[in-house]
Amino acid sequence: MGSTGLLFLFLLMSLLQLFHPQLVLVSGDYDLIQKTCRSTKYYDLCISSLKSDPNSPNADTKGLAMIMVGIGEANATAISSYLSSQLVGSANDSSMKKILKECVNRYNYSSDALQASLQALTMEAYDYAYVHVIAAADYPNACRNSFKRCPRLPYPPELGPREDVLKHLCDVVLGIIDLLDW
Ligand SMILES: *[C@@H]1O[C@H](CO)[C@@H](O)[C@H](O)[C@H]1NC(C)=O
Ligand SMILES: *[C@@H]1O[C@H](CO)[C@@H](O)[C@H](O)[C@H]1NC(C)=O
Ligand SMILES: *[C@@H]1O[C@H](CO)[C@@H](O)[C@H](O)[C@H]1NC(C)=O
Repeated sequence: MGSTGLLFLFLLMSLLQLFHPQLVLVSGDYDLIQKTCRSTKYYDLCISSLKSDPNSPNADTKGLAMIMVGIGEANATAISSYLSSQLVGSANDSSMKKILKECVNRYNYSSDALQASLQALTMEAYDYAYVHVIAAADYPNACRNSFKRCPRLPYPPELGPREDVLKHLCDVVLGIIDLLDW
């Protein structure tokens, strides 16, 4: 091998040494996301949700739980806003108005419960974090039941799918909290 070849080899090895740890880290972190999501009930939802947050690749398992809780909270708040917007068109229907208001409240409670879960996660109070997420997933049922008690009123068509996503996000969070060291 000539001296040019040796120089090339030396440069190549320096480059590998420089970048190799980083490469390992990146693939290791993506492995953590996959491994974490595999232990939840909704793998695809878990992966797509975590991929949507730029902080996920640098997060540990607890961090991934917190990112998922934040996504759930944004969903609950968005549903509450959607229901508030439906209130405008129901001005003449007092039952509809009453039920929608109750639903806005319930989704607000759901969002508050997820916020409380986030705080519990920060303090590593994983049992509390878990209970708050269960509550967050349960509040939408009260809204659904209000509509059931008044069969004249249709369940808002956009609500069902959004309610499902929120409940599934909560399920994913519970699966991740299960992985933490309680
Ligand atoms: C609700 O969660 C889904 C799934 O991660 C996400 O695609 C969507 O953007 C979220 N909605 C809001 C309002 O954050
Ligand atoms: C509500 O009732 C008022 C008066 O009866 C009517 O003018 C208005 O158009 C109604 N609004 C809706 C959204 O039905
Ligand atoms: C629900 O939460 C939103 C956003 O925090 C707030 O603006 C609204 O007043 C709340 N509604 C009720 C009925 O508590």
